[in-house]
Amino acid sequence: MSKMLFVLSAFVGLVLASTDKELLTPEFVDGLSKIWWGPLGEEDKVSTDIRPFEIKFTNEMITDLRYRINNRRKVTPPLEGIAFQYGFNTDNLDYWMDFWANKYNFTEREAYLNQYPQFKTNIQGLDIHFIRVKPEVPEDVDVLPLLMLHGWPGSVREFYETIPIITKYCEHNGFAVEVIVPSLPGFGFSDGATRPGLGEIEMAAVLRNLMRRLGFEKFYCQGGDFGALIANNMVTLYPEEILGYHTNFPVSLAPEMGYLHMQATKPDTLGIAMSDSPMALFAWLMQAVSGGSRRSYKYRADGGLHDLYNPESLIDDVMFYWTENKFTSAVRLYAESFNMRTFGT
Ligand SMILES: *[C@@H]1O[C@H](CO)[C@@H](O)[C@H](O)[C@H]1NC(C)=O
Repeated sequence: MSKMLFVLSAFVGLVLASTDKELLTPEFVDGLSKIWWGPLGEEDKVSTDIRPFEIKFTNEMITDLRYRINNRRKVTPPLEGIAFQYGFNTDNLDYWMDFWANKYNFTEREAYLNQYPQFKTNIQGLDIHFIRVKPEVPEDVDVLPLLMLHGWPGSVREFYETIPIITKYCEHNGFAVEVIVPSLPGFGFSDGATRPGLGEIEMAAVLRNLMRRLGFEKFYCQGGDFGALIANNMVTLYPEEILGYHTNFPVSLAPEMGYLHMQATKPDTLGIAMSDSPMALFAWLMQAVSGGSRRSYKYRADGGLHDLYNPESLIDDVMFYWTENKFTSAVRLYAESFNMRTFGT
């Protein structure tokens, strides 16, 4: 399995390299940043304003969510002796559904998620949501912009613990870092595309345009998971503008690729279940969190979920998919990226 995955990632690397050579004309790069992903007819109507934004967990949403959780069907128990090998272990779902409906404090979590300044601005027809945190520094200190890109099944929530550490000014460095953390198009509180084609390459152009909107001609970037694929494309498309790139996802080593095939081929069908059932959404996302955290978690009935994460932080992340019903538009990124158009022929 791991050998096959290595070959697969080497293959992806090779095709990307060949794509670079064939496609990387100035016209191609320029064209990418002009594609309109929003509804047709609105090209001249959208504003370029940067608007303050706050996450809201409305009572209506919470009531509906609790209703669905409390009226869930009984699930099929796992096979004897099976932990997470067949997917999310259903023996654990009652604990999590009870936690989400009765213990997760929506008021407190909403305030937590709104602790950083957030904004929306329209890029290529899509309202893009982002966090922007500036360090507190004396005027003469250089401030370096860092774009941080999350992946799937993540959200901007991935960076909440990191943001204060990165934006804290250390005098001995002589510089400070400002962070810009967008929800990828289609994820969290960012709009998804109206028509096909917004894959990892096209997203690189959208997010580079976001940085330009904020006044950054050059910047650093960090990416993990899909954020890394997008940042790889940024480095390739805009080598003069990316000052430096850090990734926590240097190779593709997903422990279980089944979800990828589903999301790359039939995202909308999968999305029907995920939009309708908080339990299905939770199990699908957290199976990926478990599998992506440690290989050995497959053999644990609790998926190891309590080892590395506190329960609130996991539900916070799920809320980025549930609140605005973004599962489908988010996983369409797989269909728009893992295809012949991206990899070339
Ligand atoms: C939820 O959090 C809010 C704000 O921190 C607090 O006032 C409230 O008492 C909490 N609710 C429960 C049920 O703990």
